[in-house]
Amino acid sequence: ARTAAVIPAAGRGVRLGPGAPKALRTLGGTPMLIHAVRAMAASRAVSLVVVVAPRDGAAEVKTLLDAHTLPERTDFLVVPGGENRQDSVKAGIDALPPGYDTVLVHDAARPLVPVDTVDAVIEAVRDGAVAVVPALPLADTVKEVEPRADGPEPVLSTPARARLRAVQTPQGFERATLVRAHETVTENVTDDASMVEQLGLPVVVVPGHEEAFKVTRPLDLVLAEAVLARRRK
Ligand code: C5P
Repeated sequence: ARTAAVIPAAGRGVRLGPGAPKALRTLGGTPMLIHAVRAMAASRAVSLVVVVAPRDGAAEVKTLLDAHTLPERTDFLVVPGGENRQDSVKAGIDALPPGYDTVLVHDAARPLVPVDTVDAVIEAVRDGAVAVVPALPLADTVKEVEPRADGPEPVLSTPARARLRAVQTPQGFERATLVRAHETVTENVTDDASMVEQLGLPVVVVPGHEEAFKVTRPLDLVLAEAVLARRRK
């Protein structure tokens, strides 16, 4: 029962502002992608990490992995990504050798997820769940609106906050289920678990972690640097 982690890292990171592709930007002097790879390899259960690189950047990412210290017990593969996140994840899944029956999918943009969260997701899959997502309750109340570019947006509804969760990664899957989800669902989704939901299969939530936040906007870089500085104390 071996576990592999697929890390989609082919996004441009437009919302972060101008600069290098997001995964190659540094936190505490180390590229975000390296943090994310180390976060997956930190789990003793993970024996393979597949990095999905920007299509024109696979060689650069390989060089980057070679230049950093990574656990010897873990294997690493780099494959070129696709147009959107889903295509990139599919490219990673297609590159998986036989023998890995648990697969994690982890955003390079969540470089600081603690190993306990990774292990909790893997354990839930090994205990029989076909799809597992780490998630946290929300601080903000959420409203569904009619999106408008030009003026106030009408509110359609307010889902009860206590029933909502903000979903993180790594998301964990029984491999066959993840493969089927990616073969079956074609419309655009923002996470892999929702594809499994569309198959009518159960997805479960385990507790996420505040340090598993996604580095999306410039303020997130400030927070990530602060978390790293606190860890180094
Ligand atoms: O855009 P978003 O923040 O949802 O991206 C989540 C993850 O998906 C990031 O790690 C990003 O690098 C990755 N991605 C990708 N291929 C794309 C677009 C995004 O691997 N074409």
